[in-house]
Amino acid sequence: MINNLKESLVEEKVNTFFNVEAVRKDFPILERTIYGKPLVYLDNAATTHKPKVVIERLKEYYESENSNIHRGVHYLSQLATNKFEETREKVRKFINASSVKEIIFTKGATDSINLFASSFGRKFISEGDEIIITQMEHHANIVPWQMLCEANKAVLKYIPIDDNGELILSDLEKLITPKTKLISFLHVSNSLGTINPAKEIISIAHKHGIKVLLDGAQSIQHSKVDVRDLDADFFVFSGHKIYGPTGTGVLYGKESLLNELPPYQGGGDMIRVVTMEKTSYNELPYKFEAGTPNIAGIIGLGTAIDYVNTIGLENISNYEHELLVYAEKKLLEIEGVKIIGTAKNKAAVISFVLEGIHPHDVGTILDSEGVAIRAGHHCTQPIMQRFGIPATARASFSFYNTMEEVDQLALAIKKVFEVFK
Ligand code: ALA
Repeated sequence: MINNLKESLVEEKVNTFFNVEAVRKDFPILERTIYGKPLVYLDNAATTHKPKVVIERLKEYYESENSNIHRGVHYLSQLATNKFEETREKVRKFINASSVKEIIFTKGATDSINLFASSFGRKFISEGDEIIITQMEHHANIVPWQMLCEANKAVLKYIPIDDNGELILSDLEKLITPKTKLISFLHVSNSLGTINPAKEIISIAHKHGIKVLLDGAQSIQHSKVDVRDLDADFFVFSGHKIYGPTGTGVLYGKESLLNELPPYQGGGDMIRVVTMEKTSYNELPYKFEAGTPNIAGIIGLGTAIDYVNTIGLENISNYEHELLVYAEKKLLEIEGVKIIGTAKNKAAVISFVLEGIHPHDVGTILDSEGVAIRAGHHCTQPIMQRFGIPATARASFSFYNTMEEVDQLALAIKKVFEVFK
């Protein structure tokens, strides 16, 4: 009964979770037109737009707070330091870490993974050791491991995926050996939308004494992530995918584990004492934060987290699921559309191909209708190889998208077929 009621609400395009029209007014860019047509922005997996409060926060910082942090005794330096550190506490709370010492600020998820791979690799990966990732990783969680394995003569293994775009988990135990030192995998696939059973994989890894890095680049913005409940050893995400500024990101690690890792980059802020002979390092989290960071960006990330909290991740998750269900239904009603990635558990990401038409042509024609999607390999070439296709078109949704925009997408796809008839 409740399901029937929900289905009819979706058909009538009623959002029961929050007022989407009011929310859209918070994002100035959504008001613009593209080639004279209203912008329909469906490239949220690439980056999300910024609410006015975040944009204004950056302006406010540069107009009245700008100063370097952790360095000055003067008023502005202390003010900027306090604001910067407030974000660390907001992130801690947001992902339920135990301590602010576990929150390392970086430039983004890619930077976080590179930091971790370099540091963990130097200490724990030697010749013949093995690292397991999955066939659905984006390049940021493949290439650093390939580079490390090449340098340290280690072995990289992949958990395969099935035709639905789900991990073949029964293969995981077969891949694990006494030489396995790390499993690193994405929480949600940016290409397929698959939500991986993170807790289950982490528990299998821990049963074998293996550490886990969970890549939250595509999960942090869609549903609640609780690093302690997941028991993730390490977790990364990018600020710009959760409505914050570009050039901001986080590496979370359990304090005891981060303490075991050597520093990544050397420079100011990560030191305790430097003599001409040697350096002793600062405590967590500063040990991993060399140089002046993106102070304004990190403060803006704090504002983005506040904003997301006011809408509520549960509301976001529920509404985006309704968008996904409606969009998949609308797309599959069109003859010649095939969805790539049909996992049972999906985030609001739809990769699709149109029979006989290259995804780049799809992207270009959709663009001429004001509909922004991504066309290409989405930085996941091994997935394209797995499905035997060069590329897909991808629509990825945010809570500020509407059911009417899904209708616009469907109409634009029909137009593509007309053009190619
Ligand atoms: N990883 C980003 C995407 O999926 C850039 O588009």
